[in-house]
Amino acid sequence: MLDEEETQEVLAVIKSRSLSRDYGPDCLDTVLRFEQGFAEKVGARYALAVTSGTAALKVALVAAGVGPGHEVIVPCCTFIATPGSVALAGAVPVFAEVDESLTMDPEDVERKGTPRTKAILPVHLSGVPCRMDRIAEVAGRHNLRVVEDCAQSCGTAYRGRRIGAWGDLGAFSLQFSKVITSGEGGAVTSSDPDLYERAVRYHDQGSFRERGRFPGFSPRLEAFVGENYRMNELTGAVALRQLAKLGGIAETLRARYRRFREGVSDVPGLRLRPVNDEEGHLGARWGLAFEDAETCARFTKALRGEGLSPGLAYGGEPVYMQPQILNRAAATPEGNPWRSPLYEGDVTYGRGLCPRSEDILKRVLLIASINPRYTERDVDDIVGAVRRAARTAL
Ligand SMILES: Cc1ncc(COP(=O)(O)O)c(C=O)c1O
Repeated sequence: MLDEEETQEVLAVIKSRSLSRDYGPDCLDTVLRFEQGFAEKVGARYALAVTSGTAALKVALVAAGVGPGHEVIVPCCTFIATPGSVALAGAVPVFAEVDESLTMDPEDVERKGTPRTKAILPVHLSGVPCRMDRIAEVAGRHNLRVVEDCAQSCGTAYRGRRIGAWGDLGAFSLQFSKVITSGEGGAVTSSDPDLYERAVRYHDQGSFRERGRFPGFSPRLEAFVGENYRMNELTGAVALRQLAKLGGIAETLRARYRRFREGVSDVPGLRLRPVNDEEGHLGARWGLAFEDAETCARFTKALRGEGLSPGLAYGGEPVYMQPQILNRAAATPEGNPWRSPLYEGDVTYGRGLCPRSEDILKRVLLIASINPRYTERDVDDIVGAVRRAARTAL
């Protein structure tokens, strides 16, 4: 979905000779305009552009006050960056079960809390929103921060509110495989001025440069050391033009999903992956839920025979089975959150940690990644393939 509009915006930035939002003779403020537009689309007061989704998560967690000695509850079905960013912020990830939607089970979140829990980090996986009302309720009862991982789900809503506007902070990715993209990039959202200011400061060496920030915002916090996760104006140019396309992309994806859903609705024994909100989910990754792993494997084979490329989420393995988490390994022993003198817990990870999810991950099949270029005809082809597979595999 990159075309002439992104090209022209990038060329304009190059001609302006102002590639940084903070320097240059004639800055076009593409990053600022992206931030303003992004905040409005999400329904948050503020948005902050950063260099990646991982940077967005780390900035958001640090802004939320997460650090050494803390635990953060994350779902066990997610990309490595989710627990990874918790560890990078100095804290320990604790894994909660997912349900058949492949999103966090709020009841298990409550069970996994300890006196060390500082935040909940729900992940809206492949366009399906988490049950944010229940997660917010748990967080409220235990006085926890909520940082939403929205990396895969820009444009998704739950119960009429956009994701990224439910928690204290939201973290988005603009990496190449995401709903809208600038190649690499990310954004943090929040409606809390102090959290926003902490995010701005952490992403920019602890300083708050008032030029090119939200008009009228008056910083009021002290400086602290930060990093450099600033987005540049070239990336901002692409992100800005992509943002203008988000509404159309989401509309097309949802229409394609509805057509798919209707096309397979009368197949006996076939169950779709639950999506938590029929209106708000994005329809970016269609899924089927089976009763057991054997049926799922048979269906996978049948769909492959039809020329599709179905797969289990993350190969059917929870993220805690990845070696860096399984081995509780950090870049340096001194920086290892699991061994921090401030950490009073003792978590270990391994097979059997989230048994319900380990079962679900082997029997929820993601049948296709959908992009907005898919036509109705493409959808009908997939419907046909699923119907034929059901005849042989169910
Ligand atoms: C759930 C989730 N969180 C975080 C990220 C990290 O985003 P990025 O690749 O932009 O750092 C990703 C990216 O794939 C993701 O899928």
